[in-house]
Amino acid sequence: MFCCLLRSMRWAEPSWRSSQRELESGEEEGEREGGPRLKNTLFLQFWDRSLDKLLAWKSAQSMVFGQPLVFDMSYESHMSRREIENTVSQLMDVEGLNRRATEPYHLHFCNLQPDGLYKKELLQRYGAETWERLLISTSERQHVDLFPREQLVYLTADSPNVLRTFDHSKVYIIGALVDRSIQKGLSLANAKRLKLATARLPLDEFLHWEMGAKNLTLDQMIRIMLSFKDTGRWNEALQFVPKRKHDGFHQQQIAQRNHTYL
Ligand SMILES: C[S@@+](CC[C@H](N)C(=O)[O-])C[C@H]1O[C@@H](n2cnc3c(N)ncnc32)[C@H](O)[C@@H]1O
Repeated sequence: MFCCLLRSMRWAEPSWRSSQRELESGEEEGEREGGPRLKNTLFLQFWDRSLDKLLAWKSAQSMVFGQPLVFDMSYESHMSRREIENTVSQLMDVEGLNRRATEPYHLHFCNLQPDGLYKKELLQRYGAETWERLLISTSERQHVDLFPREQLVYLTADSPNVLRTFDHSKVYIIGALVDRSIQKGLSLANAKRLKLATARLPLDEFLHWEMGAKNLTLDQMIRIMLSFKDTGRWNEALQFVPKRKHDGFHQQQIAQRNHTYL
């Protein structure tokens, strides 16, 4: 996979260099004709397209070989219209952050009803054509119908269990919801009803966090889970918890916990 990535980058590199050369040589010429700006624009357009192709190629790879990550879209009836719109904004951030990651997840949007509000909002925001081309898997079916039950772990801030290590054999589930009113225990209840294992992020264990709900947003969750998958280190992954939410890391325990939790 890495070789293919390098091959793809090698393909982009000479063109980048020649464009760079064009740019450099065009500078003098451009002083006479206004050329560099045009060449600069062409170069940036070309570079953008190459980068898009590379990112699309990586996402395509992740759909075959990538670690699955499920977003559970079964919470429509628990949200206001405004909350659904916010959820979709966060899901769009999730997709973009994942697409640009070094090793993206294979994203699964489960429980996505064809006539539901999530789908309507996603289609409206992306546009039908882009939506069709997105490299994510979507299904009306539940996660429990798509993956072996014993593989699934529902992430929820209300779980009594702590997620200690990243287990590549597991499929983690994130509830696709924004709840301004904080409906405590909603995803935990859902997981319990389906008899699924649950885990919470080790926020108390790593961070000074006296006040406030420990529910993170979907974009914060994907940043954390991408980093944790890649590094296996909570002190790196939890850097993505906004600083305003806590009073810093438990410094003296970081080394010990990283050791224990790896
Ligand atoms: C905004 S939270 C939703 C909070 C909601 N009250 C609930 O019942 O889960 C969106 C999702 O992010 C994940 N999440 C947020 N904070 C988490 C944490 N501290 N530990 C584990 N998962 C978390 C969960 O999957 C959750 O369903």
